[in-house]
Amino acid sequence: MESPFQYREGQLTCDGVPLSSIAAECGTPVYVYSAQGILDRFRAYEDVLAAIPHKICYAVKANANLAILGLLARSGCGFDIVSAGELFRVLRAGGDPASIVFSGVGKTAGEIEYALTKGIHSFNCESHAELATLSSVAVSLGRTVSLSIRVNPDVDAATHPYISTGMRDHKFGIDINKAPALYERAASLPGISPEGVSCHIGSQIMDPAPLLEAVVKVVDLAQQLIRAGLPIRHLDLGGGLGVAYTNEQRTPAIANYLKEVIRLVGESKLTVMVEPGRSIVAESGALLTMVLAKKTSPSKQFIIVDAAMNDLIRPSLYQAYHEIVPVAKSEGPHEIADVVGPVCETGDFLARERSMPPVKAGDLLAVLTAGAYGFVLSSNYNARPRVAEVLVGGGTFRTVRTRESFEDLVRGETL
Ligand code: LLP
Repeated sequence: MESPFQYREGQLTCDGVPLSSIAAECGTPVYVYSAQGILDRFRAYEDVLAAIPHKICYAVKANANLAILGLLARSGCGFDIVSAGELFRVLRAGGDPASIVFSGVGKTAGEIEYALTKGIHSFNCESHAELATLSSVAVSLGRTVSLSIRVNPDVDAATHPYISTGMRDHKFGIDINKAPALYERAASLPGISPEGVSCHIGSQIMDPAPLLEAVVKVVDLAQQLIRAGLPIRHLDLGGGLGVAYTNEQRTPAIANYLKEVIRLVGESKLTVMVEPGRSIVAESGALLTMVLAKKTSPSKQFIIVDAAMNDLIRPSLYQAYHEIVPVAKSEGPHEIADVVGPVCETGDFLARERSMPPVKAGDLLAVLTAGAYGFVLSSNYNARPRVAEVLVGGGTFRTVRTRESFEDLVRGETL
């Protein structure tokens, strides 16, 4: 699928809208998202899964902007949430509670109560203790929880250790071998209906093989539970499909992965749920930043830009690589430079030892593939107001989150 960010007559555009015009109106740094890019990727999931009973639950954590949630909600997308705050956002954006699944390793009784009262579809339960809490909250509200246990299928997702989740010594899920006993307990508890099996083995997975290995294990477990008389109706396969961050990589085709999933789920008639985050939004977002200055140390060249680790933490936190390209194509010899922000940390960088085209103060750069886990992970570190977010659609653009003001920085604080 083509990136929404393409050069036209030497100018980088998002769906044909020049990024320079967005920077001129909204300032920098600013996140820019393509509505079309997001919808195309959602439809890539929808088109294949339409062949079977299914629910696509976009993982809100990847990008929780209301406009993006609203766009997906209006297209019939469901949502995977991991906190009451995310539920609040989805409901505010017009999401259908009946298409919401609540994941996450630590839910409070208050969060469970809020979600049950709103009538969400189901909960992915991650521990014995949580099962007990779910039952007691459900009983106190006179409701029944539709429950899946998140099992840990012990497959190696072959991704960055911080975003791999499906191995035996990770905090997530229940060992798949111990799951049958927990299902038995779930079935015996008041207020609990064990209707699904869920898993999520990690994120940024470029080779679907481990994802499919997990599917086989989860289908086996579901069939075993059905034979034991449990009312299992759905499989939640989590998210995890990766995207290309470098020119050498290729984004795995969503359709190919899902066709294999359908083959493995076979004739089971189980509803297949998926929780994609990154593969829906990553490639549809860029962070626009301006060059403030260049600086040379004895051994290094630095390009200092106005975006920093507080705006996009992925390079600092996961050594993640993001392409950085000039908004106005520039010709001339490349140089090796670190692209760094103004934050007072050596770990504040967007790129290290990167071959960069000639740039000068005032030039605009675009940090690509920043639509997922970008703004959501941003902070006010160094008292930097969080940046604006812009959505491009229908040949034009609009601000969908205004840049924070200094007053926003101190909201809620007292002397
Ligand atoms: N479902 C569950 C239960 C998850 O924990 C996650 C992501 C997803 C779905 C969505 O996974 P995706 O399709 O986006 O891979 N901040 C990291 C990624 C953390 C992923 C956490 N869980 C990064 O920037 O790479």
